[in-house]
Amino acid sequence: MLKSEALNVEKVRADFPILNRKVHGKRLVYLDNAATTQKPNVVIDTLVDYYSRYNANAHRSVHTLGEEATAAFEGARKTVSRFVGASSPEELIFVKGTTDATNLVRFAWAEKNVKRGDTIVTTLMEHHSNIVPWQLVAKKKGAEVKYVGLNKDGTLKMDEFEDAIRESPALVAVTQCSNVLGTINDVARICRLAHEAGAVSLVDGAQSAPHMPVDISKLGTDFFAFSAHKMMGPTGIGALYGRKSLLEGMDPFEGGGDMIKEVHTSGATWNDLPYKFEAGTSNIAGAIGFGSAANYLSEIGMDKVRRHEVELLEYALENLSKVKGMTIYGPEDADQRGGVLSFNLSDVHPHDLATILDERGIAIRSGHHCAQPLMEWLEVPATSRASFYVYNSFDDVDSLKEGLEKANEMFGA
Ligand SMILES: Cc1ncc(COP(=O)(O)O)c(C=O)c1O
Repeated sequence: MLKSEALNVEKVRADFPILNRKVHGKRLVYLDNAATTQKPNVVIDTLVDYYSRYNANAHRSVHTLGEEATAAFEGARKTVSRFVGASSPEELIFVKGTTDATNLVRFAWAEKNVKRGDTIVTTLMEHHSNIVPWQLVAKKKGAEVKYVGLNKDGTLKMDEFEDAIRESPALVAVTQCSNVLGTINDVARICRLAHEAGAVSLVDGAQSAPHMPVDISKLGTDFFAFSAHKMMGPTGIGALYGRKSLLEGMDPFEGGGDMIKEVHTSGATWNDLPYKFEAGTSNIAGAIGFGSAANYLSEIGMDKVRRHEVELLEYALENLSKVKGMTIYGPEDADQRGGVLSFNLSDVHPHDLATILDERGIAIRSGHHCAQPLMEWLEVPATSRASFYVYNSFDDVDSLKEGLEKANEMFGA
């Protein structure tokens, strides 16, 4: 049995109770981590601990439980902001997830700053959450969304990007890692070029923050969006990093409790950062769980997380490409891609394939992965996608390969 050189997978797996469960009587092989990841005991325990010991609202009550909840909530903000290299916790706004983060930028920044005739530059490999908000802004403001195209191997056409930014766009919004192709974009360079052209930059970190070391101070981005549930944390919580100078110039996007300094019948003034953007009772449990997940990942070490996924990817690319009828999308080199592997198997519809694999306890995703412009570019209606995380082993890849071969048998290939 092959063993990971980067980390002790058996030890990691022992932290995830769900991995003990059987699906259709088979060992669960969970390969749908780009959709959402499993949670370690420490995150589950953190949620139970909050609800069973110090459940109270944050930033409101002076009683002991209230103070404890506030301290844990703000402690989580510090942990998560350190995790992604933000220079200060006040630049980290808790939101529902990546989609909520891009929409916050849409309402609080873009609607004010994008003008008629402006362009917004994004790419053909984006998730809908980094496309649709900009389409909506463009429609409202009379601006245009430009999509940078892709090379055959699924990397960005940087010459097209450079052409697009010659028009001095208002915003450049690019993913750090594609949720379909796995392509890792050089977002540090993209942000530098965007800034030189006078644009504001936004990086979608939904598939990068969970899987590789991320240091926002080195990326130089103005906004960075990510989701806790894709990095072992709870659902319904994520974060938007925003550069302080930009956040300070933005008006709140939702009004309500906690986001104000003073309210009078004549009007209101806004709270300090980041609270100006956190109206109403926050997802306190979620944020504390998010902090716990970030700590868990930091203890493993993000370098090791990345190295392990590259090992798995190399193994998967080599072995799965031997299966008859396989078309694998994205860069060939594992170093250039995240732990996401999209493919099609002959004429088997991805949904049929996912159902066949499920019978064998293997969970993959099938569909358009909320990236329909990319599906159009690939000229397919859908793909199958296996996506890895720290608890996946070489055995999981072998099980997937056997499942694909079985599907071939069933379809007479
Ligand atoms: C690259 C990318 N961006 C954004 C999102 C949206 O994340 P969420 O559904 O957590 O808002 C996803 C989710 O799959 C993603 O993969």
